[in-house]
Amino acid sequence: MTRLPAEDVLLADYREPGALHVFAPVTNGDKLNFYGLAVAPEIRWIRNATNQLVNLYQEYVPGSARATGLLLELAEEARTLIKELLLDPAEAGGCRIEFVGGTSRAVEVALARTGQPRRIIISPFEHPSVIEVAKWFVSISGAELWQLHCAPQHFFRCWQEQEDDLISQIAEAVADTKTAALVLSEVNYATGAVIPVERIIDRIYQFTSPLALKIILDGAHAAGNNQNPRGIAKCASYVFSAHKWLLAPEPCGVIVSYNPPPDQLVPYDAWNSTLPATTVNVHMLAGLVSSLRFLKKLGMEKLWEHSRRLRRRFVDRIQALFTVVGEDSGVDITLLLAICPSPGRRWKFSATELSAYLQSNSVHALVMNIDPQSPWLRVAFPCFIDFEHVDILCDVLEKTIRDD
Ligand SMILES: Cc1ncc(COP(=O)(O)O)c(C=O)c1O
Repeated sequence: MTRLPAEDVLLADYREPGALHVFAPVTNGDKLNFYGLAVAPEIRWIRNATNQLVNLYQEYVPGSARATGLLLELAEEARTLIKELLLDPAEAGGCRIEFVGGTSRAVEVALARTGQPRRIIISPFEHPSVIEVAKWFVSISGAELWQLHCAPQHFFRCWQEQEDDLISQIAEAVADTKTAALVLSEVNYATGAVIPVERIIDRIYQFTSPLALKIILDGAHAAGNNQNPRGIAKCASYVFSAHKWLLAPEPCGVIVSYNPPPDQLVPYDAWNSTLPATTVNVHMLAGLVSSLRFLKKLGMEKLWEHSRRLRRRFVDRIQALFTVVGEDSGVDITLLLAICPSPGRRWKFSATELSAYLQSNSVHALVMNIDPQSPWLRVAFPCFIDFEHVDILCDVLEKTIRDD
């Protein structure tokens, strides 16, 4: 394993001895967390700040004016920070921001607000959890589920062709129905590719209308992943996760609605302008505020720059053996990618064996079965990863490949 001189940009502004440990919170060497499961690990600063807020709340009697006041204040601070850190200032003023218990719940709420669409259309780039939410939703609403498809080899085509194919599938899906809802990710959870959602929405509304087709954008892997949400003003709801790229220590889904109808129903568990009707999760809210304070303190751009350098180092090192899925398709990239063996090379392992091999080397990355011929490996570069972790990953990966 190559050991490298310290070159982390995070230290520059965080002048404490051993400051990097703030970003490598998992002890005992198990730090090779390339987001096998894309959930932020415990980050000491954020956890301590969360605990302090929860302790403050616990001094009050639940339901008292002081307890309620504190919670509403924290929710408002979270909204202000989201606007400041993530939203386009020109749109932020028109955005309503709500918090619920997870991304999937956020998608469900967004679906429920689309009226009573007869068809729920799921893009080919949706995460399996979102497909489960859609199945659940149609089982309750009586709507029909319509999944769009993209063959694995199509992920390598130029984006224009992929987009044209997507648009024609959507046109077919809405052709014979009066009302439908479409769920579309802004960043492909599998490949990290940025889907140009604004352009796609413009194209869709050339053949249908916002009344006939409500669009929900899933920004679970977009918000805070080298970019800020796009398309908020063009869709019915934009949802994202606070517990992925925004580092919140507890699951939290965020729903952003641009100029929502004033009479729209607030779900019983959503943090809207008042408290949720159900018993609240104080840890979720305290964690959300703390992670946003942390991001503000360190600066998103600085964290992204660190991650971009990790990504570049990874790609430079593995490019002789692996291909980055869709790297030549011309879309914007994020801090997440998928690799497969380069032409003329193969994995030594099946998907299950590869997963076990990586885990046995303490590497946590996602082995995916999108291509039945050959597994793809998703690797993410969140800010708490360090350069030497990338080198270890590359050393481990070099042993997974054989020539044809
Ligand atoms: C794009 C996308 N949407 C939704 C989800 C579901 O998120 P949650 O587990 O918070 O419900 C995930 C999970 O990784 C995801 O990647």
